[in-house]
Amino acid sequence: METSSARGRAFAAQKPTFLNVLGDLWDPQSNPNGVVNLGLAENTLMHAEMTEFINTDLQIDAHALTYGDGFSGSHRLKKAICQFVNRCFSPWTVLCPFDLAITSGVSNALECCAWALADAGDHILVGRPYFNAFKTIFGTRPGIELVEITFGTTDPFSMAAVDEYERAYAEAKANGLHVKALLLCSPHNPLGRCYSEDVLKKYMKFCSRNGLHLISDEIYALSIWENPRISDATGFKSILSLNIKEFMDPSMVHVVWGLSKDFGSTGLRIGCLISPCNRLLLEAVEGISLYNFPSSVADQIASSLLVDEKFLEQYVSTNRDRLAESYQFATDFLGSHSIPYVECNAAFFIWMNLGAAMKDRTATDKDILTRLRDTKVYIAPGTVYAAEQSGWFRMVFAHPPHVLQEGLSRMIRAIESERL
Ligand SMILES: Cc1ncc(COP(=O)(O)O)c(C=O)c1O
Repeated sequence: METSSARGRAFAAQKPTFLNVLGDLWDPQSNPNGVVNLGLAENTLMHAEMTEFINTDLQIDAHALTYGDGFSGSHRLKKAICQFVNRCFSPWTVLCPFDLAITSGVSNALECCAWALADAGDHILVGRPYFNAFKTIFGTRPGIELVEITFGTTDPFSMAAVDEYERAYAEAKANGLHVKALLLCSPHNPLGRCYSEDVLKKYMKFCSRNGLHLISDEIYALSIWENPRISDATGFKSILSLNIKEFMDPSMVHVVWGLSKDFGSTGLRIGCLISPCNRLLLEAVEGISLYNFPSSVADQIASSLLVDEKFLEQYVSTNRDRLAESYQFATDFLGSHSIPYVECNAAFFIWMNLGAAMKDRTATDKDILTRLRDTKVYIAPGTVYAAEQSGWFRMVFAHPPHVLQEGLSRMIRAIESERL
């Protein structure tokens, strides 16, 4: 007798492999033989400040034990997010609580876009490499497929890259695909860079010409930092800060953000979908809000945090300093071991070429991954991000030096016997 449905079995086969890592995390005292996690996109650099804020400055009231003000976030949190976004994202038009919905993390906010902007079998455009879960978020339940854009030697953040979207879109259309949206991620996971204002404007014109929605994932908005080696690097600019109606129909522009990355709090599960000119989209999100309902306790934590301007200012600037220091530490290490990497100035990632550091140039990503697994360090291979070339891996550097030291030493041990 079958103990589950066909789709149940299909879901079971998609269980993320990193879940095994989480069950055996390295700790110098309690689990020295565990796995050092430099793979999952988490920032632990500010955990002490964040837990102190929650444990000292916060009083949870009985409202947190209820369904709150409905399933798409409390009035208080919606107001707090508006205050925060109006201050930190400099929107062209001041944001008000009716312009957004709160969800249980940004993955859920993106899935809401998938459900409400496209139908099963439709496609969205996304440039390579991209955050691996986009495929799951858009595909697994809503049934939306990705059209991956390949850039070759073109810089994915350049004006010329937009032409590659144009080409891919024309080809998709010629093949009878229904393309509904373009998904941008700025600051970018995994490349750690931002799109310039001019490039964003070109993307908006492209969307306008072709009747596409523009979904802007800005989850790393505040996690930008100084990299002295690229002092002219493009900083973060929210799509909301531009005069959108000059370039495209504002009802087609949607932004997602949340606490997971900029506040090192993936476990709070607070995200939001901001769509100031598309009431129908937000109503559709209300329609499925039972599936995306944030915890009322997390809602209260976020509500207090996002209006505490003194704490925020201190937090954001210390976070940036620590990210810059950790990046420096990790890239010094890579430099001293002649491992090529791409410089960046945002988010938590270093895109590095472990394949190029191997003596055996025929070693596949799978071979390298097996070695990393043997020395118990988790670093994700570029293949999961649809990298265009093999050999590339994404390392998360947003951890204190002792964690990086342990993880990177294990990484070197993993590739050592095969080094040049
Ligand atoms: C670009 C991007 N978007 C969305 C998410 C999902 O965030 P959340 O944990 O809030 O669901 C991540 C997490 O890694 C991410 O990197």
